[in-house]
Amino acid sequence: MAKIPEYTIEKIKDSNDIVDVISAYLPLKKKGANYWARCPFHDEKTASFSVSPSKQIYHCFGCSAGGNVLNFVMEYEKLSFTEALKMLAERAGIPLEFEQVSPQEQSDTGKLRDMHERAIEMYHQQLFSPSAKHALDYLLNRGIKEDTIREFKLGYAPESWDFLVSKLSGDYTPELIQKSGLAVTSEKDGRLFDRFRERVMFPVHDDRGNAVGFGGRLMTNEKSDAKYLNSPETPIYNKRKILYGLNVTREHIRKEKKALIVEGYMDFLQLYQHGYINVVAGSGTAFTLEHARLLRRFADEAVLCYDSDSAGQKATVRTGFSVSAQKLECKVLMLPKGEDPDSYLRKEGPEEFFKKQAGALPFLEFLRLHYRPAAMSPKEKSDTLSALLEELRGFADPVYREMFARELAKMFLVEEQTLLRQLNRQAARSPEKESNLFMGDKPKHFKNQGESAEYFLLHLLVNGDLRVRKAGLRYLSPALFSHPFLQQVLNALLGVLGKHLSIPAGHIPDKIDDPKCRGFAIKLLMEEQNTVNQEQVFIESLKQLELQILKDKYDQLTTALRTASPAEIPDIMKKQMENLEDRKQLNTLYTEDIFREVDL
Ligand code: UTP
Ligand code: MN
Repeated sequence: MAKIPEYTIEKIKDSNDIVDVISAYLPLKKKGANYWARCPFHDEKTASFSVSPSKQIYHCFGCSAGGNVLNFVMEYEKLSFTEALKMLAERAGIPLEFEQVSPQEQSDTGKLRDMHERAIEMYHQQLFSPSAKHALDYLLNRGIKEDTIREFKLGYAPESWDFLVSKLSGDYTPELIQKSGLAVTSEKDGRLFDRFRERVMFPVHDDRGNAVGFGGRLMTNEKSDAKYLNSPETPIYNKRKILYGLNVTREHIRKEKKALIVEGYMDFLQLYQHGYINVVAGSGTAFTLEHARLLRRFADEAVLCYDSDSAGQKATVRTGFSVSAQKLECKVLMLPKGEDPDSYLRKEGPEEFFKKQAGALPFLEFLRLHYRPAAMSPKEKSDTLSALLEELRGFADPVYREMFARELAKMFLVEEQTLLRQLNRQAARSPEKESNLFMGDKPKHFKNQGESAEYFLLHLLVNGDLRVRKAGLRYLSPALFSHPFLQQVLNALLGVLGKHLSIPAGHIPDKIDDPKCRGFAIKLLMEEQNTVNQEQVFIESLKQLELQILKDKYDQLTTALRTASPAEIPDIMKKQMENLEDRKQLNTLYTEDIFREVDL
């Protein structure tokens, strides 16, 4: 592929507003000049991820992730530079001089997704071949309509060891095919063979519609093998974050603000084809806090409709807590014994299901019916409560957590205070992850005044006006700084400003190669304080550093005095006198005049 010219890259970046782009992934809330959200790149309970509309950059104060719109897409979607560029170009309707990303330029992520796209097509085609009549019949007999089969690209993996492997081997390395989870390496002879054989296939996508994996169901109910076989975790399939069907139903969920959560693929498809288009299903794993966080982007309310068996009810409890932890209003739709949404809808019809929905119980009400605390022995009560309090740990909002705990106290007829004490004890045992990164430090945390001064100067180099930048280029040098990392950052910044003196602040990080320094530059950008008097701060900080250097020198001379021969003493003392003179000079050396000077 031809190299994409710099101006095209700039145009693509300029045409994709970072706030718009990131809003499609995260719920951004405006606070002051910036937008905030919980960071998608590390686990956190408070929002330390911020996006600056004026500078078109993002930065996380917790984990120090940061960059421009292109960096975000690369990071979030795990794409290569070219792929991310292509995606943003498409988004903005900018034609690019290339169509296909060449294999060398494609990231593993891109290759794994393509491999899945091809597998989906092959399995889907296979389902309509004469040899797959039994598979198609199986689905039709279970009441899945042909339209639904086509829309969700359901498929059939034939009884073969290499149906897929033989077709993928031409284009992908064995390592990557194995990585995709579509094939497994034989322990006997090290050869690759298809993971899915003689199963109907349910393609799984992430919420953006990228193919990431499969669930494959046996067509018999014999217990010879797992009923459903799922793709393993892979670089593109993080099960904790993927909900089946969300890519198709997300906009309906957003409109209705409400999502129906079911357990199985079949439940999903059955509801969907009868017009319940605000539904999602788990895909072979428990519903996690991350799932809830994902859903929170689209819905305010979640209605859980799981199997009525005891496993389903237990799963309802856990899911209910995960959902509530994200402050989604949670309700539970209970089905008659022996039913799941699929079987119930088929038996009673869609209208009946609709009526039933109106009777969904608030989650707390469900808990009361499920546990029947009134009938519990004291020990059962106490054990259950401990377990439930444990679930409250995941609650992001402490006030909401406490309110929930108070409700539980009422339900189990326990003194609120007793329960809250236990809640706090249990909470104390779970240490919050602390940020160990230098990035999180504020100036006041620096070891000494000198380091704070270094920090302020870096700040001014990035956020200051042209005069301050010029003065920085002239008066600042790494030798002035004592903090090794800040020294490195200074070096990088001087390098950038030396070449591009009037570069917009937001573009500075792009020009820094070292990721740690770049991250720090972004942090400085985001922390912009409206320094009222930049010149004054510059001068005072500079003087502070010069003074420190002189003081250090003086101390060295004092040490030297102790071991000096009598002949050397007068010379050392003279130097000390000069040193004290130099210190006085600082005030006349560094005045507002230095800015007039650089203006010339
Ligand atoms: P269910 O056992 O309730 O299956 O598991 P189901 O969806 O009702 O399937 P049918 O109606 O028998 O075809 C619910 C979900 O749990 C996962 C699957 O995602 C399934 O849809 N599961 C179940 C597995 O991953 N492996 C299994 O062996 C069973
Ligand atoms: Mn079922």
